[in-house]
Amino acid sequence: MKTLIELLSAEVGKAFETAGYDEKYGKITVSNRPDLCEFQCNGAMPAAKEYKKAPIAIAQDVAAALNGCACFSMIDAVAPGFLNLKVDPVYLRDYLTKMRTEDRFGYAPERSGERIIVDYGGPNVAKPLHIGHLRAAIIGESVKRICKFAGNDVIGDIHLGDWGLQMGLIITELKERKPDLPYFDENFTGDYPAEAPFTISELEEIYPTASAKSKDDDAYKEAALQATYQLQHGNRGYLAIWDHIMRISVEDLKRNYENLNVHFEWWKGESDVQPLIPGMVEDLKKSGLAHESEGALVVDVAEEGDTKEVPPCMILKSDGASLYATTDLATLLDRRQAFDPDQVIYVVDKRQEMHFLQVFRTARKAGIVKDGIRLDFLGFGTMNGKDGKPFKTRSGGVMRLETLIEDINEQMYTKIMENHEADPEEARETAKIVALSAIKYGDLSNQATKDYIFDTDKFTSFEGNTGPYILYTIVRIKSILTKYADSQDATAVSACALAGAVNETDKALMLELVKFHDVMEAAYSEIAPHRICAYIYDVANAFNRFYHENKILGETDKQKQQGWIALLDLTEKLLETCIDLLGFGAPERM
Ligand code: ARG
Repeated sequence: MKTLIELLSAEVGKAFETAGYDEKYGKITVSNRPDLCEFQCNGAMPAAKEYKKAPIAIAQDVAAALNGCACFSMIDAVAPGFLNLKVDPVYLRDYLTKMRTEDRFGYAPERSGERIIVDYGGPNVAKPLHIGHLRAAIIGESVKRICKFAGNDVIGDIHLGDWGLQMGLIITELKERKPDLPYFDENFTGDYPAEAPFTISELEEIYPTASAKSKDDDAYKEAALQATYQLQHGNRGYLAIWDHIMRISVEDLKRNYENLNVHFEWWKGESDVQPLIPGMVEDLKKSGLAHESEGALVVDVAEEGDTKEVPPCMILKSDGASLYATTDLATLLDRRQAFDPDQVIYVVDKRQEMHFLQVFRTARKAGIVKDGIRLDFLGFGTMNGKDGKPFKTRSGGVMRLETLIEDINEQMYTKIMENHEADPEEARETAKIVALSAIKYGDLSNQATKDYIFDTDKFTSFEGNTGPYILYTIVRIKSILTKYADSQDATAVSACALAGAVNETDKALMLELVKFHDVMEAAYSEIAPHRICAYIYDVANAFNRFYHENKILGETDKQKQQGWIALLDLTEKLLETCIDLLGFGAPERM
């Protein structure tokens, strides 16, 4: 459905026309003087230039033409030529009633029905998830849900880092520790054991140990590079170890992402596209796009008008090995074959911006992606501690994601138990739900590209612009609706019809709710979940102001009360939809 602003602008435009002016001057905006009016139209000022007339005279003409229009309850022409407007309560009620009955609240995206892949997560297998992976997971999941809500067919792909040096390092370390395993026996032809020769915790210890060793032992590093090379060239025993590593790590990753309410449709990885590389490289050579430079194979991607230097995209190193960009190009090829996307959105650390610029340009030049495809890089900033430096553990180490989540869960639990008496088991469950909102909202309420400070005390607060505050508001509304239904019957809430606003606070809430369509469109087209956060914060504030100034359950005027219950019902549904798009849910009680 059309947005309220569009509908009202059309009415004002018509009035301009009736009064003898171009209707294009009828655009209205939300008022920047809320003490005077709800909406304003500034069109008389530019119209004055065209018609060589005083702007106030034009504004008065338009006001006169608007007289009798059902959509405004106040139309004021004021100096020097503004039109100050208030929307009619009945008109507003009808608009909200339509929102309440329509699918997606009547949100009709400009672009819809497309195939979109969101590439996010990107963890490297066998390394524990740490807070560096948090932002990709949180932002990517939300972006994916927003794209789905806009009516697209969307795939979230984790794009595992599963083919690199870390695999060679693990193999090398394992060989040192257990040289007698059949994987290292070149003459072994039987079936390898089904059981992995390590557990996940051993694996998580093996990798950092190996990585540290390789840094000050050249021979060890060489062995790891060799092992990586052999793995990538089909060494049977190494591939069997790789299988074990994958199975065990992926299981652990699934559990971790599950805890974050993050779900991927595809669990593909860098390894999956390796078979596509030789043919792709051949094509790049044949087309003449790729050329040799200092022994390496590169594609020039600099363009006229570049404001910074864009170096050539490296396809093969001088030793013939493929690189990060090669894999990403092959992945685009694979995605085209498997899903034929209209858009691919990458949610990755913004320090990788140049890499993606090179990959996108090469992919377009080489026709690896179809014409007209949208390739978007949403680069996110760093998550910092209160000291403004990248978030670390107290001892200065990299913090594991699990530890961070456990810490916040614990804090939330303590808070809930302090707040009111609660059953410890239920409080644990609630704490988990609220903690997730704290972590996710804390991240998503910032523009993704900016660095932000992970401030535990602020994020877990029940007041201010936080996830727990939003949930608290939702729980409050739910409790009123439940109490109302209990006093009537189960269908009582949906049977209530919206009514026209009766005072300033219920109208203010209504005027926040109607912004939904614009907010969704902005969040989708700008790939910007923070827009949704800003919206629900305004809605929550407007609701709480309304709640404090009106006795909803105690109201004796039944029609008024039913109108409010319907308003609460819509508010609650909008808020729940929005937090679902952000990737978290609300508890029943808090
Ligand atoms: N594994 C990569 C890293 O740790 C992130 C992958 C991002 N996605 C991609 N298609 N390159 O840096």
